[in-house]
Amino acid sequence: MSEPTPYERIGGRAGVQALTDRFYDLMEHDPAYKALRDLHAPDLRPVSASLADFLMGWLGGPRDWFDARPGMCMMKAHTNVPITADTAEQWRHAMARAFADTGVEPELAAQIDQIFGRMGQALRID
Ligand code: HEM
Repeated sequence: MSEPTPYERIGGRAGVQALTDRFYDLMEHDPAYKALRDLHAPDLRPVSASLADFLMGWLGGPRDWFDARPGMCMMKAHTNVPITADTAEQWRHAMARAFADTGVEPELAAQIDQIFGRMGQALRID
């Protein structure tokens, strides 16, 4: 028996969908994430669908996001997004809350949080 993937441990498609729904719900409604919200388009549905698809592949599940975008990567997806230390931290914080709120195993959530922290640093322009 092979180890379950992070995708499986999070609950597959439904689990990743619940996670991204919660993440954008927090971004939309909690004023702590206003600067982060303001970076996004008025309609969050397209980016929500895209992030869910991205995460499924990235976590070891179906790779539809990558198959539909040959050569695309997380860095390129943010070429025109002026991410600062502040908004990178807001992203990470909202995502950590979404992991906790959707019942992901704390140990797995902490491992992924470390990686998101490094990704956020790489995306900063300041
Ligand atoms: C570090 C803080 C981050 C900020 C401030 C940020 C912000 C944004 C913004 C503003 C967009 C465009 C949304 C729109 O057009 O409405 C976007 C798109 C996206 N972001 Fe991030 N992002 C961050 C980190 C990440 C990370 C770590 C990931 C992956 C784990 C990620 C995955 C995506 C994806 C998949 C898209 C959609 C790309 C597309 O379909 O064109 N982002 N992000």
